[in-house]
Amino acid sequence: MGSLDSDFARLVSHLDYSLFIVTTANRGERAGCLIGFASQVSIHPPRFLACLSVKNRTYRLAEHTDTLVVHPVPEEAEELALLFGGETGDEVDKFARCQWRQGPHGAPVLTELENWFAGRVLDRIDFGDHVGFLLEPSAVSAKESQEPFTFRRGRWIDPGHEP
Ligand SMILES: Cc1cc2nc3c(=O)[nH]c(=O)nc-3n(C[C@H](O)[C@H](O)[C@H](O)COP(=O)(O)O)c2cc1C
Repeated sequence: MGSLDSDFARLVSHLDYSLFIVTTANRGERAGCLIGFASQVSIHPPRFLACLSVKNRTYRLAEHTDTLVVHPVPEEAEELALLFGGETGDEVDKFARCQWRQGPHGAPVLTELENWFAGRVLDRIDFGDHVGFLLEPSAVSAKESQEPFTFRRGRWIDPGHEP
């Protein structure tokens, strides 16, 4: 890695931002992972970008689905963050280890988390080792405001798939 690349990696390691759990389903299979590369990207119309690593099982399912469910992770949900960020669905059934129900277009909604939205996939954008899914909200559950579980708090979690 050149020094510009390593300087950039050092700079972004100092940033902090909210983490989300993204879930999806296709043909009876379910997937979900913890993500940090995500943001609202437009107000009118409302748009959100969720980026998935091409190595993740969640990405492989999301390639063939038209709906993702995005759950902001609240600060007390460390166990869910560890399950969805530290394990891969290639090896364990994450949905056997948490409470969920079928949500919009069959995508799993994590019932422990009160805030989530379902997003219709409008576009997929290749950024390199991550693909951005441009989402239009199609269903929303917005309850209490919560403190987020942030990237800097989740940094100790060893990703289930290498980034
Ligand atoms: C703090 C943190 C942030 C992460 N951010 C992303 C991300 O933005 N996009 C992504 O695809 N994976 C991200 N991951 C990695 C996945 O959550 C992890 O590799 C997961 O085990 C993949 O599960 P899957 O193979 O079942 O999809 C992150 C992990 C951690 C610990």
